[in-house]
Amino acid sequence: MIQSRIQSFPSEIGFLFILLFGIIFLLIVDPRQDSERLAMWYSYSATSRRPSTSWLLSSNTNYSLSQHRPLIFHSSSLPLTHEEIKGSEYYKQPPSAADMQLDKVEGILAGARASIREATANTDRSSKLDDPDYIPHGDIYRNPNAFHWSYLLMEKHFKVFVYEEGEPPIFHYGLCKDIYSTEGFFLNFMELDTRFRTRDPGEAHVYFLPFSVVMILEHLFDPVIRDKAVLQRVLVDYVHIISSKYPYWNRSFGTDHFMLSCHDWGPRATWYVPQLYFNAIRVLCNANTSEHFNPNKDASFPEINIRTGDIQNLTESSHLKEERPILAFFAGGLHGQIRPALFHHWKEKDDTLLVYETLPRGMSYSEMMTKSKFCLCPSGHEVASPRIPEAIYADCIPVLISENYVLPFSDVLNWDSFSVKVSVQDIPDLKRILAGIPEKEYARMQNNVRQVKRHFAVNDPPRRYDVFNMIIHSIWLRRLNLRVGLR
Ligand SMILES: *[C@@H]1O[C@H](CO)[C@@H](O)[C@H](O)[C@H]1NC(C)=O
Ligand SMILES: *[C@@H]1O[C@H](CO)[C@@H](O)[C@H](O)[C@H]1NC(C)=O
Ligand SMILES: *[C@@H]1O[C@H](CO)[C@@H](O)[C@H](O)[C@H]1NC(C)=O
Ligand SMILES: *[C@@H]1O[C@H](CO)[C@@H](O)[C@H](O)[C@H]1NC(C)=O
Repeated sequence: MIQSRIQSFPSEIGFLFILLFGIIFLLIVDPRQDSERLAMWYSYSATSRRPSTSWLLSSNTNYSLSQHRPLIFHSSSLPLTHEEIKGSEYYKQPPSAADMQLDKVEGILAGARASIREATANTDRSSKLDDPDYIPHGDIYRNPNAFHWSYLLMEKHFKVFVYEEGEPPIFHYGLCKDIYSTEGFFLNFMELDTRFRTRDPGEAHVYFLPFSVVMILEHLFDPVIRDKAVLQRVLVDYVHIISSKYPYWNRSFGTDHFMLSCHDWGPRATWYVPQLYFNAIRVLCNANTSEHFNPNKDASFPEINIRTGDIQNLTESSHLKEERPILAFFAGGLHGQIRPALFHHWKEKDDTLLVYETLPRGMSYSEMMTKSKFCLCPSGHEVASPRIPEAIYADCIPVLISENYVLPFSDVLNWDSFSVKVSVQDIPDLKRILAGIPEKEYARMQNNVRQVKRHFAVNDPPRRYDVFNMIIHSIWLRRLNLRVGLR
């Protein structure tokens, strides 16, 4: 498996390319041109003027329906009013059947958006909705009531079209083992899904490009020649095929399409198709904002290391003990920019804050996690760490040491309630910080870790509120934030 880091890009050529693309993009989608029939809309947050999903679910937004005025998405943010849009050429032409179908899809989304916004505005944040399986509640959510509304509306309405083009093993299939397993699980679950998947592309809200970066590299990448252009060839071809065969890509410039990858090179793979990179929803483990991960349109994907491919007993907690004699634990390789500092200060230096590069003989990694109060999750080669879900499974409080990392499901979950963030500068102080957390606070956080476990659980077949459904929910939120078409 390829582990080398992504080279930083854009290079100068890349930069020129972005500039050129930006200019072309402006010319093509400038909404002031009447001939433009299908510009993209973002529902902007009226206060920040930036499209963001946080307005939907955060607890402290000051939102009401009347305040909200959708502004047209435009690189230079020139807003158009409803009146200007209504007066445009687009409205003077009779709608086609496809326009009417798109109106219907957008109508459903508009209704859902309004309901969720209403739930967000409600000062009572506890959900009064019925649910046979689980009712979101408590500190772990930014707003449990708004999340519950959003989740149920997603189950009721959300439709995903999976392009059928492409053959396994590169498409429609992925490995469900090792560090990139969530990519494989999602691809395989989506193939069999009956709740969200639709065979009618006209009624879909989002379009899925079911390629696996892991499988492209496994089958087409030569480890000796190391020609990364295989990614380019596959993706450029694929997008070319689906955008010439179907009208949906061109209709939205890719904004209502999504791809997903857990590989370090996931972001890089999308680079070769600018609309995929800048417009489409990218669900990525490597959610590094310094590499153009944009949390307003891209979603962070949890990295879960399923070592044997066996998901049975992953979240099983009967073996977990109350007694946790070790303050904090970490074992893992020295790579990336954060671990050198961690190792410098703590590697084999303390008898209760245990940091190892190689695990001593006879010590079990998983057992150590169940004996520690805190589990350190520093970024390595890439920002995501499989230790975060591992810690959660072990009722161990994750200690997040990363930079520019957008945490999974962070527009719904209140990470501060079940994890500790430590900045790189504070690594020398790590022991004091962790030991200084009062027992009561620790107990509260551990209870929250137990509660949040269901959102990181991998089930086959998927179960409500588990990791598969939470990923779909992240995509749903990003699609809700977008309006395709001018009506
Ligand atoms: C929230 O809205 C009210 C009423 O519109 C306004 O007076 C108040 O300043 C707003 N608060 C914030 C934090 O924006
Ligand atoms: C979409 O746009 C591309 C490039 O402009 C074009 O080649 C393709 O034919 C278009 N697709 C459809 C379905 O019109
Ligand atoms: C899962 O746990 C059950 C009960 O604790 C046990 O019987 C079973 O063997 C475990 N399965 C695996 C694969 O470890
Ligand atoms: C995030 O991206 C920046 C810019 O490319 C890079 O310098 C940094 O190392 C990345 N972080 C990780 C943990 O890979």
